[in-house]
Amino acid sequence: FSLKTYNTFGVEAKSRYFFEFTEMDDLSEFLQGNRSWKEESIFLLGGGSNLLFVNNFDGLIIHPNVPGVQVVRETRNQVWLEVGAGEDWDRFVDYCVKSEYYGLENLSLIPGTVGAAPVQNIGAYGVEVKDFVDTVNGFDLETMSTYSIPAEQCRFAYRNSIFKQELKNRFIVTSVVFRLEKFPEFKLDYGTLKAEVEARGELHPMHVREAVVAIRQAKLPDPAELGNAGSFFKNPVVDSELAEGLKAEFPTMPSYPAEEGKTKLAAGWLIEQCGWKGFREGDAGVHKHQALVLVNYGQTTGKELFLLSEKIKASVAEKFGVELEPEANIL
Ligand code: EPU
Repeated sequence: FSLKTYNTFGVEAKSRYFFEFTEMDDLSEFLQGNRSWKEESIFLLGGGSNLLFVNNFDGLIIHPNVPGVQVVRETRNQVWLEVGAGEDWDRFVDYCVKSEYYGLENLSLIPGTVGAAPVQNIGAYGVEVKDFVDTVNGFDLETMSTYSIPAEQCRFAYRNSIFKQELKNRFIVTSVVFRLEKFPEFKLDYGTLKAEVEARGELHPMHVREAVVAIRQAKLPDPAELGNAGSFFKNPVVDSELAEGLKAEFPTMPSYPAEEGKTKLAAGWLIEQCGWKGFREGDAGVHKHQALVLVNYGQTTGKELFLLSEKIKASVAEKFGVELEPEANIL
């Protein structure tokens, strides 16, 4: 089964088996059917927007495509929405802003599906999805049963959650319940966001959405036009001592406070300093406006992109003594 259209890098890879479902019942029927899948490797594929296929996959790929958006509870100030894992993330954000359900507008234009959002706790422009997740519903391949995980138990952290750790390739997210606000609360501290919103007039979530869309479009390639998986690496969190040493040597280096004794650095800046921004070798490259984003100019392979990422990693380690960790899933 070709996976080329199931990953936003647009690289070719094949899987032995592929199963897509739109209803929970179909999934349990499939898994409990005649054939046992217990011996197969299983990989859960959402929108494929945070994924690099380096090899073919000799196992079963499960692609949840559950649709639907439904209000499940409402108070004077808040609303709870249950959303199918297969819904497109940005379409959902657009629907929320238009329906006057607020909180997700800073997360506009992030590629991928609703089901993948809690898995890596998507975040942008000062907001993380974890603050709006109420529960995550799904199917556990180990116990072969459905259950709901409250947000407090999802162990959300920077680009991380229980779904990338203990429950990796075991828990299939089928829907997410979000708790949103009916009265907007603005988070505009990140970069130029505030100025971009003010330039649009009235302080309104619709203007926040428009501003975020504009900022992203200026910096990040649209996967429909140029294959990519967003940030390829995480922003590294290092000992503050190391960060201070680097700051002394490179005074313009951006850094952000992290947990006690730690500092977060900007991977894009580190990579750019190593001379990679705009680099291209064959059809594999580094985006010209954001060095954190690797791109497929057409016919590159997962292997070539992976090799490029390894070279970038090595040069950042050599110049700054910082180990970059991929944000994208490498398969
Ligand atoms: N920078 C450079 N050169 C570059 C890229 C960035 O010098 O090529 C500098 C910028 O000037 C800025 C700093 O690095 O001072 C941070 O850059 P930016 O605001 O573009 O954000 P980022 O830290 O590179 C993170 C997320 C993005 C998210 C933005 C905005 C990660 C790994 N990435 O990027 O998320 O959109 O912040 O909140 O945390 C994604 O996860 O796929 C993604 C795009």
